[in-house]
Amino acid sequence: MEFAGYLIEPRLFAGLPPDWRWVFGREAPLIVEIGFGNGEFLAEEAARHPENDYVGFELTLTCIEKACRKFHAAGLANIRVVRLDGRFGLRELFANGSVQEVIVNFPCPWPKARHAERRLVDEGFARTLAAVLEPGGRFILATDALSFTEEARNNLAATGCFRIRGPYEVGGEPRTRYERKWRSKGLAIYRLVAEKEAAAAVERIAEGKMPHARLKTDLEKEDIPKVAGLKEVWPQGALVVKEAFVAPQGDEVLLRAFAADGEFHQQFFISVSRDRKGWIVQLDGATVPFRTPAVKRAVFAVAEALQRGDQ
Ligand SMILES: C[S@@+](CC[C@H](N)C(=O)[O-])C[C@H]1O[C@@H](n2cnc3c(N)ncnc32)[C@H](O)[C@@H]1O
Repeated sequence: MEFAGYLIEPRLFAGLPPDWRWVFGREAPLIVEIGFGNGEFLAEEAARHPENDYVGFELTLTCIEKACRKFHAAGLANIRVVRLDGRFGLRELFANGSVQEVIVNFPCPWPKARHAERRLVDEGFARTLAAVLEPGGRFILATDALSFTEEARNNLAATGCFRIRGPYEVGGEPRTRYERKWRSKGLAIYRLVAEKEAAAAVERIAEGKMPHARLKTDLEKEDIPKVAGLKEVWPQGALVVKEAFVAPQGDEVLLRAFAADGEFHQQFFISVSRDRKGWIVQLDGATVPFRTPAVKRAVFAVAEALQRGDQ
């Protein structure tokens, strides 16, 4: 398989969750690893279990590149990776009851209280696990940070959907870079395993449809940049239009925008352009975000502000 073929872009898919049978070209048990780092665990597991398909989430591009090189060198065809927050990815990219196992090895513990919202196994993530895991499916967490495991355990237990074992101390050969690192410093390693016994419902917020709005009034291209600075905050999210770029020729202005759906943040461009029918406000194709409520609201808020002429 080509090196670049491992990295997929579900933002561009018309429908979510994707049909993973189409992505892998076959139907097989799905295993997810979140925060795979240099990918050595993922590569080893995928080689050991060619009967499974593996989806990895990672945020850091250098990690993704290193990992994909490993997968390519090993000739593995049963792995795909997504550059995305695994909390969002697990909820939005997998149907209920469709995942056999979710693995997290040495997540960043984010011990400071002000970073608490970055911790992986929060209440929302525990509910997502209870939705997407198949009956009897497992969540497996390995870490050196006992306090993290205890918080994870409490959040998993609060769903009432899991039989939980651990955290218990484990030995054996290190299987990831961070496991090697912490063991070499003499730290104990803990594992927590949660087996799904009951399902929970989660609300999914991303959809395939591209939002757009046609303006009923005419505009001067030079007036559009005044919409920069538009800002809205509501209980579940926020949007800001940061700045505007006016095309030197032709009727188009690009607006750099930011949208937050809870802790999931996206930056993208909104295009305001004129065709034969008039002005249209839509997502620009160069930076297609997931079409979440905050992204859709950003497109419509820009259209409304331009239409009201209060930019
Ligand atoms: C401490 S490292 C562990 C890497 C690897 N699992 C290991 O054990 O060597 C944590 C990794 O998780 C990634 N990460 C952190 N938060 C994430 C998230 N919300 N979604 C996906 N990856 C995340 C980081 O970029 C980093 O590579």
